[in-house]
Amino acid sequence: MANYFERGEQIEDYSILDILGEGRYGIVYLAENTKEEKCIIKLLKKEMLKSSKKKLFYEQEILKRLNSSKFPKFIEYLEIDNLPAYVLEYIPGIVFEDLLADDSYMFSKAQIYEIAAQLIEIISVLQQNNIVHRDIRPPNVMMKENQDIVLIDFGLARYIDNKRYTKQDDYWFLGDFLIHLYYTSFYQDLDLEDKPWYEELDITEQELLFLKKLMGIEDTYTNIEQIRTDIMKLKM
Ligand SMILES: Nc1ncnc2c1ncn2[C@@H]1O[C@H](COP(=O)(O)OP(=O)(O)OP(=O)(O)O)[C@@H](O)[C@H]1O
Ligand SMILES: [Mg+2]
Repeated sequence: MANYFERGEQIEDYSILDILGEGRYGIVYLAENTKEEKCIIKLLKKEMLKSSKKKLFYEQEILKRLNSSKFPKFIEYLEIDNLPAYVLEYIPGIVFEDLLADDSYMFSKAQIYEIAAQLIEIISVLQQNNIVHRDIRPPNVMMKENQDIVLIDFGLARYIDNKRYTKQDDYWFLGDFLIHLYYTSFYQDLDLEDKPWYEELDITEQELLFLKKLMGIEDTYTNIEQIRTDIMKLKM
């Protein structure tokens, strides 16, 4: 059994406001400190202690290193009933998974390239720190009220070693992420045939090549500058 905390309970100096998520590895709580400032507490599940220590270690170590408004800040490490936990900055905003779940919400191409431009700057900061995130998906990307994008959930992030962990991993996720956004507005007719995205979406040749290169389907990007340039061109 995992040790769950309920709303209103205390974890050290923090009081639990809500449970935001429960993954395989841990539980994510929304909490507040004694000054009533919101924060996030991630607590590892007991049954995952052996297998997942490493995962927690990377998330902590990497978030401590990244000092940017593009990521949540690491606040402190806690140990609760012998289970590792840590406190992160709370990001006010909405995850893309929730934006995408709202069927009436459509992303225009201008918005898609604005988001792509922000995500490539996020990936650039990661690369400057030799980090690959490996999980840039709708539940792990947030949009703040001012439209700034923040990347969360560093549970799968690793140091780039150019063998198992490469820069291209994040390019692939960026491509896949953008395809989700395209589908909100450019879905043609409800075809019964199961066509791949590159036949189904209403996109230009230039956009198609961009996405295929991100995903390594046709050619591939070898440096981030080329991606930045292509996003700028598509934005125009
Ligand atoms: N710093 C944060 N600020 C605001 N909301 C957050 C923050 N971190 C997490 N959340 C919310 O909690 C959800 C789950 O968090 P997260 O993605 O970090 O963990 P997870 O997917 O459950 O964990 P894991 O993938 O490590 O098993 C997110 O989708 C988001 O809605
Ligand atoms: Mg997640």
